[in-house]
Amino acid sequence: MKPLAGKRILVTGAGSGIGRAAARLFQERGAELVLVGRRLVALSETLPGAACAAFDHSDDRAVAAFAQTCSPLDGMFLAAGALKPGSVGGTPVSDFDAMIASNLRGPWLMAHHLGLRLKDGASVVLVGSNIALRAIPESAAYSVAKAGVHMLAKVLALEWAPRGIRCNAIAPGPVHTAMVDDRLASSADPLEGLARLARVNPLKRLGKEAEVAALAVHLLSDESAWTTGAVIAIDGGADAVY
Ligand SMILES: NC(=O)c1ccc[n+]([C@@H]2O[C@H](COP(=O)([O-])OP(=O)(O)OC[C@H]3O[C@@H](n4cnc5c(N)ncnc54)[C@H](OP(=O)(O)O)[C@@H]3O)[C@@H](O)[C@H]2O)c1
Repeated sequence: MKPLAGKRILVTGAGSGIGRAAARLFQERGAELVLVGRRLVALSETLPGAACAAFDHSDDRAVAAFAQTCSPLDGMFLAAGALKPGSVGGTPVSDFDAMIASNLRGPWLMAHHLGLRLKDGASVVLVGSNIALRAIPESAAYSVAKAGVHMLAKVLALEWAPRGIRCNAIAPGPVHTAMVDDRLASSADPLEGLARLARVNPLKRLGKEAEVAALAVHLLSDESAWTTGAVIAIDGGADAVY
């Protein structure tokens, strides 16, 4: 029996990277998908024929309008997010606002408007980051927003527990996606930048999109029925290093 058989799962950020890989794996594992992103063409390339909706998840009216039309869900994987580097002192307030909107306001609004579309017993997975578990310089607004995501998962776990709905956050370390390439593009030596990211964790390599997706399958399936309110690092052991 496939672990997601018969489940209707919504994925944000489904037009690229981790969200795209997850959507594809969820379908392979039996799920029916609803794909969300800002670019319809990218979504249709993820899984031709799947239900798609294009909107900005930080736009309250757009999320509310989508929720009106959305059929009941067994799960959500909220992967949409964006990264702009910078220190607290060096980040323009417009970039701070953009980081909070993309990374925290988006999942908050998805939970706020789609909570009532979740079936009793559903499971929700939020994508945080391991750089919200330990402070590193130069990603200040992103880290702070992702720390909010981790707490949002815990708060939702309490709020939804009476309906048997679970909510967990995952905290990936560096995975080689467009987000990481964009982050390193302005550095003097992007290849050395990638190698440096890989050296930080005990397994000495970057994560793979499929590895993050596999953890999400577990958390969205009934196999993880007693796991809720958890923040789970998936980072090659980086969080274990002092
Ligand atoms: N890659 C890593 O090393 C890493 C590590 C830890 C955590 N993460 C997290 O993992 C998630 C996926 O990232 P990724 O690495 O796969 O990067 P990615 O390929 O850049 O994917 C990010 C996705 O988020 C969507 N998105 C961004 N802002 C949005 C908004 N306001 N409304 C709707 N969709 C929005 C983008 O969609 P469009 O541009 O098509 O609209 C894009 O598909 C993010 O939350 C990221 O913070 C990544």
